[in-house]
Amino acid sequence: MTTQIGIEDYGFATGSKVFDLSLLAEHQQISQEKYTIGIGQEKFSVPSYDEDVVTLAAAAASQITSRMDPAQLDSIRTLIVATESGIDQSKAVAVYVHRLLELHRNVRCFEVKQACYGGTAGLATAQGIIARNNDERVLVVAVDVARYDADSSGEPTQGNAAVALLVSATPTLLAFDHAQGLAVTDAMDFWRPNHRTTALVDGRASIQVYIQQVLTAWDDYARHGGRQFEDFAAFCYHQPFTKMAAKAHQRLSRHVSTELSAPAVTAQIDPTFVYNRVVGNSYTASMYVGLIGLLEGSNDLSNKPIAFASYGSGAMCEVFSAVVLPSYADHLHTERTQHTLGQREPVDFQSYRRLYYDYPNPTDGTAITIARETPGPFRLAEISDNQRHYEAC
Ligand code: HMG
Repeated sequence: MTTQIGIEDYGFATGSKVFDLSLLAEHQQISQEKYTIGIGQEKFSVPSYDEDVVTLAAAAASQITSRMDPAQLDSIRTLIVATESGIDQSKAVAVYVHRLLELHRNVRCFEVKQACYGGTAGLATAQGIIARNNDERVLVVAVDVARYDADSSGEPTQGNAAVALLVSATPTLLAFDHAQGLAVTDAMDFWRPNHRTTALVDGRASIQVYIQQVLTAWDDYARHGGRQFEDFAAFCYHQPFTKMAAKAHQRLSRHVSTELSAPAVTAQIDPTFVYNRVVGNSYTASMYVGLIGLLEGSNDLSNKPIAFASYGSGAMCEVFSAVVLPSYADHLHTERTQHTLGQREPVDFQSYRRLYYDYPNPTDGTAITIARETPGPFRLAEISDNQRHYEAC
C-alpha cells in the first residue's frame, strides 16, 4: 500500500485591523457595488505597525505547534515559509519563525518565492521530503501582506494573512492525489522590483494570463492521470478577489465541455469565498484561506475530492487534487478562525492609509521602537542597525 501524504493540522492569522471597502468607494465617489458585486470583496485586513509577515507566520504556525505533543515536535525537520513580501533579500523569514516557535535546532529552514504560487511550491517540496522519510513532518507557512499604490486600480485588492499547514504521512484533514498539472510562462502581469514596497500590475492582462495558465495546467493535470472535472465536490482557486475564481471556474467548465448550471457553479466554489471576501488578497496564503473556508463552512465533505488551481503571477500555475479524510470534522478550528476575524478593529479611511503606507520601515539604519498594538502572540518591537527585532507578547 502506498503511504498517504497530506495535511494533518492548520493555523490561520491575519492583521488585527480591518478596512471596509465601502469607505474606499466613498472616497472615490463610486458605487460600493463595484467592490461587493464587481470584484466580490467586502473588506480587507490591515496590519498594525507591530505586525508583519514574520509575526503573522509565527502566529499561524504556533497554533499547530502548541497543539502537538512535545515529543512529536522533533518530527518537524523542515520549516518552509512562502512569501513574496519578505523582509530581507538574504535571511529567510523561516529562520525568524523557527526562533519564535522555539523549535529544536535540527530543522531545515528556508523561504520560497514565486508570487502567489509559493505556498504550493512549499507543499510540493514537503511531499517529496515525506515520501523519502515517512516519520518526518514539514511545516509549510504561506504568508503575505499585499500592497499596491494608493489610488491605483489594485488598491481594493489588498489584504494579508498567514496559513500554516502541517504536512505528514499521518494526515487528518486531506490526503494529496499523485497527479499534478504544471504550467509556466514568462509574463509581466504583476511584479515588484527590489526598490519598491508596492507591486506593479497590468490588471486586465493579469486576469487573462491567470485564466490561460489555469487551462494549460488543467490539461497537464489530465494528461498526468488526474481525476475528471465531474468527480470534484469543490474547486479551490487562488483568489486575488473572489470574482476572479468565479471567472476562472466558468472558463474551465467550458474548456472541459461541462455544461454547469449557475447553482452548480456556485455550489462548487462559493464556500471557498467566505473568508477571502473579508480578508482580501493574501497572495500566497489566499488559496489556503479558501481551503479553510471550504472545510469549516461546508456540510460533510468526507471522502470527497477537491481540485486546487494555484496561480502566481509571472506566471506559474499548478493544478492538483486531494481527498477530504473522514476524520476532518474533528480537526477543524472554526471558532478560532471566526474569533480572529471578528475581533479585528475596524479602521476609518485615514487610519487605513496611515497604517498601510506610512508604516515603520527606515531605510537608513535609524533606530525606532514600535508600540505594542497587536493582540497576537508575537510582535515587531524595534528596528535598529538595519535589523528587525521580534518578541513574544
Ligand atoms: P478596475 O479597472 O478597477 O475595475 O480593475 P473594472 O472597471 O474592470 O471593474 C471590475 C468589475 O466590476 C467589472 O466586472 C465591472 O463590470 C464591475 P467584469 O467585467 O470583470 O466582470 N463593476 C460593477 N459591478 C457592479 N456594480 C457596479 C460596478 N462597477 C464596475 N457599480 C482589477 C479591476 C481587478 C483589474 C484591479 O482591481 C486590479 O488591477 N487588481 C490587481 C490585479 C489582480 O488582482 N489581478 C488578478 C489576476 S493576477 C493574480 O491573481 C495574481 C496576484 O494575486 C499576485 C500574485 O500572484 O502574486 C495579483
